[in-house]
Amino acid sequence: MADSDRGRLSVASIDVLVGQEAAFLALARDFEAMIARKGYGRAETIRDEAQPLRFYAVRYWTDMASAQACHSDAEVQTLTAQLFQIARVTHVVNGVRRPDPKRPLIDTQRAGSEADRRVGFERRGKNIGRTAGDRRAHRDRRLGPRRLRDRPGGVDLVGAARRARENADAAFSQFKVGAALEAADGAIFTGCNIENSTYGLTICAERVAMFKALSEGHRAFTRIAIVADTPAPTPPCGACRQILWEFGGNLEVELANLSEEKGTYRLKDLLPLPFDARLL
Ligand code: THU
Repeated sequence: MADSDRGRLSVASIDVLVGQEAAFLALARDFEAMIARKGYGRAETIRDEAQPLRFYAVRYWTDMASAQACHSDAEVQTLTAQLFQIARVTHVVNGVRRPDPKRPLIDTQRAGSEADRRVGFERRGKNIGRTAGDRRAHRDRRLGPRRLRDRPGGVDLVGAARRARENADAAFSQFKVGAALEAADGAIFTGCNIENSTYGLTICAERVAMFKALSEGHRAFTRIAIVADTPAPTPPCGACRQILWEFGGNLEVELANLSEEKGTYRLKDLLPLPFDARLL
């Protein structure tokens, strides 16, 4: 085992839907047995004593290759898809990726925004108003587009969005857009805009990417890149901001054109005072 693989660990916080606890515990037991049997590592499910339907899934991987093999194992994916039907899963520590000093920061932010979306208006009110100082510090530490490209082995999300844009069907507007959405487990889902003769049934690149990811069982996301062939960046339209917020939380939004990266934003800043399920 390589030194860097020792102690590789993943932690996910899992919020089980009301009435699904028994089903969840059965799934957790199956998962624990399966990863031990297949030699991927050891899994443990810990109940949060303070929140009745919150659990933490801790996985101690044998090594990085085992973690990756586990994630591409069809039997594991079947269990994971069942889990996504009965719980919301937020990755807190992702031990599958190569070590990246910036990554835990994003996962932590993601975990924060995930909780933010669900725990009710009051709590969010406290989180929402970061001070100017915090925001500046935050931006400095953040994974900027140029640094992303330089990151060894890093995912070129903007590149994926540029490639996706080539499939856009923009026969009416001639305005082609590409998007690439990163899920918390590192999976990338791309989208492009698709227009049709009614005009009104047009769907934007961002929503295509998000709906593709959701339809494949993903429920936690970190970043989205959006690309158009314009000198000024193309930010997501209002409808897309709403969908991205409701399903992706406070995503990092990277805007670029065909040759340059134009800036990185947080969705919370693009959609202040959002309407969502907490207000229903
Ligand atoms: N469009 C997107 O796909 N994403 C955006 O962020 C802005 C607009 C598409 C919709 C339509 O096909 C074309 O661009 C012109 O509005």
